[in-house]
Amino acid sequence: MPLGPTDALIINPQTGEKSHDVKAPAQKSLHVAVIMDGNGRWAKAKNQIRTMGHKAGVDALKRTITAAVDLGVTHMTVFAFSTENWRRPEAEVNDLMGLLRAFIKSDLERLRREGVCVRIVGQEEGLPADIVGMVNEAHEKTKDNSRFYLQVALNYGAQADIIEAVKRIATEVRAGDLNPDDITPETFGGYLSTHDLPPLDLLIRTSGEHRLSNFLLWEAAYAEFVFQDILWPDYGYEPLKAALDIFARRDRRFGAVEAGHVKPAF
Ligand code: FPP
Repeated sequence: MPLGPTDALIINPQTGEKSHDVKAPAQKSLHVAVIMDGNGRWAKAKNQIRTMGHKAGVDALKRTITAAVDLGVTHMTVFAFSTENWRRPEAEVNDLMGLLRAFIKSDLERLRREGVCVRIVGQEEGLPADIVGMVNEAHEKTKDNSRFYLQVALNYGAQADIIEAVKRIATEVRAGDLNPDDITPETFGGYLSTHDLPPLDLLIRTSGEHRLSNFLLWEAAYAEFVFQDILWPDYGYEPLKAALDIFARRDRRFGAVEAGHVKPAF
């Protein structure tokens, strides 16, 4: 799986002249985001309750983390619970939170040993207090790991994240701490909850649905999208490899005419 070019295309902003900087470091990160969709349909097809689909979804997540490490992915951001998911029946919401608790209890120590850094992306406000404590502890225990970065998007909505960023920027401008002329895509990205993540390379959605569903709207600006007709509980090594193979064949131009290697900084 090619992680990226070893030479970067440099465009002189004054002259527009292009050159290749052969000394530029190879792209080190491979950031994949996943909308893990189809748990409910998987359960229905098996005449089971939806919770069984989510339970099987956790197993699929565990398989996919292992596969991602093996396949050279460095960062994986998964959509576990959106700000809109609170609209689901209370019992299903409770079951999802329960599965997250169980996942942390059963797998955190293994993930820590395997070099995985676990982080949460999303709003703490509104989450059960014990979940906030558990996810913060999970990050604290794994924060020095750098083999693989797992971001679990929990109580996450991209629009809310963008609005929070705008509010913070507006506050800084009003206080005189920030000049509006200094706001660029790069600086704006620094206000998002994903600010310390590398650019998103690939966004996968399972179950045949073709929507972003308020996931990583800003970050997906130059990401490649792969939609797969597989229900999330059936996911694992082979489907992820298939998605990465499709990604490797894509011609990423980042807005340029030729297949250059200018990566946006967000
Ligand atoms: C979408 O399937 C899936 C979700 C809303 C939750 C994803 C959660 C998991 C994979 C398990 C929990 C994760 C952790 C980290 C413990 P859906 O319910 O919308 O399926 P449907 O579209 O077929 O009804």
